[in-house]
Amino acid sequence: MARIGQRSGAAATAMLGLGVYRPERVVTNAEICEVLDSSDEWIRTRSGIRTRRYAGEGETLVAMATRAARGALEASGVGVDEIGTVIVATSTHTQHSPAAAPLVAHELGSRAASFDMSAGCAGFCHALSVGSDLVRSGNASHVLVIGVEMLSRFLDPTDRGTAFIFGDGAGAVVVGQSDEPGIGPVAWGSDGSQSHVIRQEPGCEHVDADHPMAVRMEGTAVFRWAPFAMADVAREAVAEAGLTMSDLDAFIPHQANMRITETLVRNLKLPDGIAIARDIQDSGNTSAASVPLAIEAMLRHGEAKPGDTALLIAFGAGLSYASQVVTLPATAGVSASVAG
Ligand code: UT7
Repeated sequence: MARIGQRSGAAATAMLGLGVYRPERVVTNAEICEVLDSSDEWIRTRSGIRTRRYAGEGETLVAMATRAARGALEASGVGVDEIGTVIVATSTHTQHSPAAAPLVAHELGSRAASFDMSAGCAGFCHALSVGSDLVRSGNASHVLVIGVEMLSRFLDPTDRGTAFIFGDGAGAVVVGQSDEPGIGPVAWGSDGSQSHVIRQEPGCEHVDADHPMAVRMEGTAVFRWAPFAMADVAREAVAEAGLTMSDLDAFIPHQANMRITETLVRNLKLPDGIAIARDIQDSGNTSAASVPLAIEAMLRHGEAKPGDTALLIAFGAGLSYASQVVTLPATAGVSASVAG
């Protein structure tokens, strides 16, 4: 029998650079409540959200992903010709075919292998793990990992369970070889018995006519599940990395709800002084984009710095979840409206 050759790749990988794109338009709770039967006070106290951003004309999903990717390339100093794979994590690209990733690669001037991943709000952490493994296996020297969402097109503005939560945006990292390991082993899994809890379904009269699906969520079910089940997953990620909670500089969970974050912080007994991501205040829940956007916000505000050790965890539709310990990358701060 012929013996098939296999590649071997980098001994260690890391995120080499980060870029983000935040849409121009800031949407306040007051604006949401022009249609939704709710209040600024209820939204702030129940979710922590003050504002979110919605994509406007020209800020397509592919355009936002491309802008974030350019930022990641700039921050990493990696040329587009060095990218071997482009992975786009998203649940709001409006077509199964073509996937968004080849379109992003084309915009960047790349012919790299490109594909989308659908793991709901956990998409970025899934894609980061796969990207790291591609470099470790030798199948790519560098991978662009992008989380991007345009949830505003999938919202029923009258739905009290979702209309105020979600926002739009994109975050991207370049993953490549590094001297020291900067992406720990992933702790991940799924529970398809709860697939009905977060879903897209047709038949909503209010959403954009081009995208006649609306996100529906049984928020209380997620709320009962996430702060406890996800604490176990986060502990597993830290243990798999050979670390303890006291080694962490930052905790950067998926920005689902501020109260979920606070409960996770308590359940994990995180050490005093650890930086906690709270980008949900200004970005809402941007699903697969939320973790890279939250990293960027912490770096920009000086709450964390490149080289810090951070625990990432993301969870959502599926239900799917993934967590890993990482070394934070540098960022180019490329967003048109990054400081807004
Ligand atoms: O990213 C994917 C993962 N998703 C999540 O992590 C979301 C997790 N879940 C949540 O964030 C929360 O469940 C929500 C923020 C969606 C809802 O918060 P909650 O504390 O679970 O509210 P609830 O549904 O238990 O409702 C509490 C009260 C009810 O009133 P009564 O019965 O106590 O009088 C609701 O009728 O709040 C009322 N309510 C609202 N009031 C104003 C429910 N939704 C709203 C609303 N505005 N939008």
